[in-house]
Amino acid sequence: MLHLLPTLLPDPIWGLTAEFQADPRPEKLDLIVGVYRDENGQTPTLDVVKAAECQLAETAATKAYRPLAGNASFNASMTRLLLGDTSTELERAATIQTVGGTGALRLLGDFIKLAQPAATIWTTDPGYINHRPIFETSGLRVRDYPWRQSAEGIDVDLIFHCLADARPGDVLLIHGCCHNPSGIDPSAEDWTEIAAFCAKRELVPLVDIAYQGFGDGLSEDTAGLHRLVETLPLVLCSASCSKNMGLYCDRLGVAMVVAPEERAIAKTMRNLENLGRTNYSMPPEHSAAVANLVFNAKAQWVAELDAIRNRVSYLRKELCDTLERQGAPASFQALRRHKGMFSLLPLSPTQMQRLRSEYGIYGSDTGRVNIAGLRAADLSMAATAIADVAARP
Ligand SMILES: Cc1ncc(COP(=O)(O)O)c(C=O)c1O
Repeated sequence: MLHLLPTLLPDPIWGLTAEFQADPRPEKLDLIVGVYRDENGQTPTLDVVKAAECQLAETAATKAYRPLAGNASFNASMTRLLLGDTSTELERAATIQTVGGTGALRLLGDFIKLAQPAATIWTTDPGYINHRPIFETSGLRVRDYPWRQSAEGIDVDLIFHCLADARPGDVLLIHGCCHNPSGIDPSAEDWTEIAAFCAKRELVPLVDIAYQGFGDGLSEDTAGLHRLVETLPLVLCSASCSKNMGLYCDRLGVAMVVAPEERAIAKTMRNLENLGRTNYSMPPEHSAAVANLVFNAKAQWVAELDAIRNRVSYLRKELCDTLERQGAPASFQALRRHKGMFSLLPLSPTQMQRLRSEYGIYGSDTGRVNIAGLRAADLSMAATAIADVAARP
């Protein structure tokens, strides 16, 4: 049967990472993969997480199976983190622990296929590289809508124009904050207009929030989600703890369904649990137990997360200042307004390849760079290289 397998190309991001690792130049810069890096180029384990793991090593008494929905206390904390401690919508939420943000997206894809098999899911262009494959694997039809910067936020008129074919029950996937790969986030007015559009056209938003805390702050970054939940009867949400708790390889996240009424919750939960049960049975307990202790030490967690966000903001500002001084085209100054770790450099694939071959600066051919991959000491070199490449179309 193996001869029937499709021949797949290597994953573009991981393929480029292998190329980076093989590059012998000591000054090379990895701006490829979407992980936070500190000034030493490391992706650190948060101190608050290390302390939690030490405590668990002492106290965790059993590795016995856990409930299908995962850790109930973690699910409750994540629901509050996403909707707000005092939200009146908390009682409408069904939340299940998942295998990272990816697991949440796939579970919700399968859930949509079960509940509304004919739904199209609309994803952003440009967008997260894995959205389309995940939802196509769930058997859904996937179409794109444009995600472009406007004077204040995103071009909502263009979006609404391109969603002319969307049908009631279709799903609109929106990045909750820190759009990957563009860094362009909606303004508060944009969120209000998106919510009203979804209400009028009976679309169901799926808010993918993988970088909560990397934009303006933990609670600030859920403002868009809150606006949708306040306005609409049904909202789906996938959330990841990979970035904001640094639990990347421990695979922690949630899928949340904010249902039209409380009595729909039990049925929704059973279906989500069954989807998990027939795939991996139950999500990993260890990462959820760590997260529970992190929630208990919230002040320390927030302080560490603030330091991460401030470092990325500093690098972003310094890069823009240096590019300005080096005479790079004005289009690069749009990066100043972007949120989170990513931006798309206004460079062609050929120019991005030159950045790699001539300067050892590795970003994707699409222009995506991870700003957190820069080190303060390299900013001047990086800006010179980018300005040079930009001057040669
Ligand atoms: C927009 C977006 N959604 C989801 C994910 C998946 O997150 P996780 O690593 O927790 O599976 C990512 C990861 O890069 C992402 O950028």
